[in-house]
This record gives sequence, structure tokens and C-alpha cells, in this order.
Amino acid sequence: MPLRLAVCVSGRGSNLVALLRALAGSALARVVLVLSNRADAPALERAREWGVKAVSLANPRDGAEWLRHLHGEQVELVVLAGYLKLVPAEVIAAYRDRMVNIHPALLPEFGGPGMYGHHVHEAVLRSGVGFSGATIHLVDEEYDRGAILAQARVPVLPGDTPDSLAARVLKAEHLLLPVVVLKAAEAGRPVPLPEPLELPA
Ligand code: GAR
Repeated sequence: MPLRLAVCVSGRGSNLVALLRALAGSALARVVLVLSNRADAPALERAREWGVKAVSLANPRDGAEWLRHLHGEQVELVVLAGYLKLVPAEVIAAYRDRMVNIHPALLPEFGGPGMYGHHVHEAVLRSGVGFSGATIHLVDEEYDRGAILAQARVPVLPGDTPDSLAARVLKAEHLLLPVVVLKAAEAGRPVPLPEPLELPA
């Protein structure tokens, strides 16, 4: 039986689509539900195009509503892929060690409240570091602080703008997320990847 996944989104949904593409025809894992805090998130449309049930939460702060949907679809693993709001504590508790988040930088640096999207890439460029990348980690009660499962590094190049860096990191995200999800499906739970993925510019 394929591992039953929910993907939670707030916006565009490119990571969702990368995952759907990678899992197409897979016997290991299947996206059975997409949840969003925003009714107008383009990601919900992407999900429906792929024939996946897509739900806009009436009240994203209501954990009981989340759990009704997640349990209703017998979800075993929750993937936050560009979900930019706090997940209710009771959902985190119910899916402890079974909920992962993708973050567009190399945690533990450049994470925490307010660190999402372009804010992350601006902070990376301001800091002058030579590398950025994508991190997938377990979700706990603190923003971006759960155990790190996998990272993919990309270089920061001279002349990078937040947009050019974001695009390079996003490609890394699209490669890393399916690898981690398929590993989780094989193991029956999220597990760390032994090696960081090293990606060219
Ligand atoms: C991705 O870059 C993801 O890492 C980031 O939002 C983007 C969503 O893009 N998440 C965060 O910043 C979480 N702190 P997508 O909707 O095209 O997948």
C-alpha cells in the first residue's frame, strides 16, 4: 500500500507539482490530500489538475478542522511545501515525527519566524555566505528547528539577486523533496539522508 501523503501549501505549489511528477505511477507513496490556508492559492488548482483532493481550510488555526481532513483521508505523512503559517499545536502533536517541512536555506542558519520566501534569500545575500540550499526537517513546535533530515547545497554566485538565488534554490528543492519522501515511504517514516546533495549552479 502506498504511503498516504498530505501536502500543505500557501501559494504557487511548484514543490507540490515536483512531488506529484516524481510520484506519478509510484507504488511507494501517493498524495491523497492538499490543504491550504488560502482559498486562492494557485497550488490548489495544480492539485485539482492532477486529480488530487484540494481543500481550503475554513479556519487554518483550528487544529480539529485539520485533523478531520487528515484523518478522513488516512494521511500517514504530512509535507509542508510552502505552507507559510503556523500549524496548530495539536496537529504537530498528532503527526509528531511524521510531518516534514521544506525550507529554502541551509538551516539552522536563516530560519525562524518571518524567514520565508524572498526574506530568506535577502538575508543570505546580506550575510555574504558562499552557499545556500534547501533543508528538509521534521516539524516541531518551534519554527524551522526540528531535526534536519536532508540538505542540498547550491553556490551563491557573484551578482546574485534574491530572485536568481531563489530560482537556483528552488531547483534544489524540487530534487530534494521527492528523494526524502520516497525514502520515508521505503522506511515507513521520515529518515535522515546520509549525504547532502551537492548541486551545480
Ligand atoms: C519554497 O521555496 C519553500 O521552500 C518556501 O516557500 C516556497 C514555496 O514555493 N517555504 C518557506 O519559505 C518556509 N519557511 P512553492 O509554492 O512553489 O513550492
